[in-house]
Amino acid sequence: MIRFRLNELEIEYTGHPGLTLMEYLRSIELFSVKYGCDTGSCGSCSVLVDNNVYNSCMILVESLHGKLIETLEYLDKKGEIDELKESFLDKGAIQCGYCSPGMLISLVALFRINNQPDESEIRDTLAGNLCRCTGYVKPVEAAQL
Ligand code: FES
Ligand code: FES
Repeated sequence: MIRFRLNELEIEYTGHPGLTLMEYLRSIELFSVKYGCDTGSCGSCSVLVDNNVYNSCMILVESLHGKLIETLEYLDKKGEIDELKESFLDKGAIQCGYCSPGMLISLVALFRINNQPDESEIRDTLAGNLCRCTGYVKPVEAAQL
């Protein structure tokens, strides 16, 4: 049995060991985790694992024993993305929105260690989140709180 913490829940997982974390999270309707490339290239499936950003399509559930996984649903519920969310909406930083949850996950990880990041730190942070709509100008502006 694989035990890990997912958001506010203690999970005892006995399902298929080869399932990816992305597949698992979407199967329990945590749809902030987007199915993008499924090859670890786009960042749309990003989650926090022990405070670090991971592409959940590249992690097998069987490797998660003892870990803490946080998804955007939980960060939203805790109020941790309130300011970022408002800023993204105010600045028009969301177009189709497919990349937005992954971007917010990356930014939360950054803000947990640096609450006044400069533009280049924000750009570096978002480098793993592919966006086909915005050209990054608005998200980078929006992340400068
Ligand atoms: S779906 Fe996981 S990185 Fe693209
Ligand atoms: S807003 Fe559409 S991919 Fe980023």
